[in-house]
Amino acid sequence: MAYPYQITSLENYHYQHQKSIQNPEAFWSEIAEHFVWHQKWSKVLNWNFSEPKVEWFKDAKLNITENCIDRWLPSKANDPAIIWEPNDPSETSRTLTYQELHNQVCCFAQVLVNNGAQKGDRICIYMPMVPELTIAVLACARIGAIHSVVFGGFSAQSVSDRIQDAQCNIVVTADGAFRGNKTIPLKPVIDEALINCPSVKKVIVLTRTGQPVSMIEGRDCFWENEMKKVEESGLSSFPAVSMDAEDMLFILYTSGSTGKPKGVVHTCAGYMVWANYTFVNVFQYQPGQVHFCTADIGWITGHSYIVYGPLSAGATTLMFEGIPTWPDAGRFWDIVEKHAVNILYTAPTAIRSLMSFGTDPINNKDLSSLQVLGTVGEPINEEAWHWYDDHVGKNNCPIVDTWWQTETGGIMISNLAGVTKSKPCFATLPLPGIQPVLIDEKGNEIEGNGVSGNLCMKFPWPGMLRTTYGDHERCRTTYFSTYENLYFTGDGCIRDEEGNYRITGRVDDVLNVSGHRIGTAELENAINMHSGVVESAIVGYPHDIKGQGIYAFVIFNGIHIDEEHTKKDINQTVSKIIGAIAKPDKIQFVSGLPKTRSGKIMRRILRKIAEGDTENLGDTTTLLDPAIVEEIKKNRI
Ligand code: WT7
Repeated sequence: MAYPYQITSLENYHYQHQKSIQNPEAFWSEIAEHFVWHQKWSKVLNWNFSEPKVEWFKDAKLNITENCIDRWLPSKANDPAIIWEPNDPSETSRTLTYQELHNQVCCFAQVLVNNGAQKGDRICIYMPMVPELTIAVLACARIGAIHSVVFGGFSAQSVSDRIQDAQCNIVVTADGAFRGNKTIPLKPVIDEALINCPSVKKVIVLTRTGQPVSMIEGRDCFWENEMKKVEESGLSSFPAVSMDAEDMLFILYTSGSTGKPKGVVHTCAGYMVWANYTFVNVFQYQPGQVHFCTADIGWITGHSYIVYGPLSAGATTLMFEGIPTWPDAGRFWDIVEKHAVNILYTAPTAIRSLMSFGTDPINNKDLSSLQVLGTVGEPINEEAWHWYDDHVGKNNCPIVDTWWQTETGGIMISNLAGVTKSKPCFATLPLPGIQPVLIDEKGNEIEGNGVSGNLCMKFPWPGMLRTTYGDHERCRTTYFSTYENLYFTGDGCIRDEEGNYRITGRVDDVLNVSGHRIGTAELENAINMHSGVVESAIVGYPHDIKGQGIYAFVIFNGIHIDEEHTKKDINQTVSKIIGAIAKPDKIQFVSGLPKTRSGKIMRRILRKIAEGDTENLGDTTTLLDPAIVEEIKKNRI
């Protein structure tokens, strides 16, 4: 068997889960034995959730890139590690073998060092979905630098905030990106972002679109030139720097219910074991299969299931640069056919969007290579689940509904493809190592089946976040202080009569729009930056494609405003401060917001109105000014 820890049957799953609870340290040390270490651990787990402090594989030494690359050499030297499909189908796709990936990662590791990078430095990566993005990520890990990948759709302001928070000294970027029929500038965004980032000393720029870019002497250099210098020096490999198990591997920023996005920190050993274990078990990966995760590496899904999970399993991972609907809504199916994809992992929002084009774009495509389908990012609705099952899987592929979060590092609750049972709209059962509990408003555990509550975890798992960068107290208050001795996910959840879990959505002020997390406070702050806005309140409402849409209630100072023009203006402000993904779907101008006597906005009421449920507003006795609710109801969009 390729992976001795691959779960093979339902009974075996129950056995493994039981074992992982009864003796977690023995369970995880057995699995960890299957990785490459410079030195083994002295203790498998130390923890307390009150600080919180979580250490897995203490005193072990390793480098994750040796586990992702070197250990597959020479046995898989000529096997494809990365298949890359460009945005434009008329451009040739690329394949990097494990040997080629090794050479490129080593070469770019040397480039980073030549540009002053050292172990422990933070490096910001702001790139399109090209193989060089994966190469840059792995090169950071190779030299022990901490990568902070920022999704290419974020604005200069957002990139700047993230670079400053992590005090990055190097940025790796590209001239621009292709997305559908658009060409998006990246280097100009970095130039603008860096005005306020004195910590950055070097910017390495890959050429992708060929748009002209301005280069600052002494600070900016081209990827191609730097690589050429190293190649000409005859470098054939770069020694992987030995890392402590608990050294930081990466920072990934994510939004919460308050303040600016926080830098979720993952560490080397635990994250590696978790990404690998979950990849191999949830998708039931078999060597030789082609795995296609449609996420961007700017999100955690890309980190764990394009880069680290698959490569640490010696798998073939497919990277797609473009979007599902360009040149037409058959693009995913063309890719499946062209590269004989075996595992397809995508988001409900993508499924719903493709569903809206009907079955014409899919009917004449050869999807017979598909064996496993997966979804992630938000609750999947019954209709989308069945469409995926009928038209993509032809009722012949297990669908894994995988629940997890940026903070969890990898999949937490999911069926295992073909091994444990699926149930439409249910993530089903916890993976080995995972001990979910449901908690009521008073903080008590709700036992038994057929119940619902707030989803928490009562025991650490190897891939969990360790801190939020530069602010450990924020990590504690966000995740570990709501309920004593528990990790709080922020999600509401149902446990059915058979013990299957169904995640119902966020219970905090966080929206999930097309599988992306948007903090309402952060978005309100951005809207309030518009000079004409007095105050605003954001709520989510059901949206056919996005899952949740963004509804903004805005108080504007000016009586006679051109509403359409002002809406455009507000959208532009949001694009500038956060990025286009956070633009509201609906903006309603109001003369006031429903508030309590103490001045707190009653979002519950706004949510009801946005959802169209204007008759059932619940208890409104604490409202300061009931007339305002009537006005908002009347003018609802
Ligand atoms: C939030 C995490 C994990 C990668 C993508 C999103 C929601 C995620 C599911 C699912 C229902 C889901 C939760 C979670 N979510 N997967 N299978 N079913 N909801 O990562 O940005 O960290 O968001 O996404 O609400 O808390 P993220």
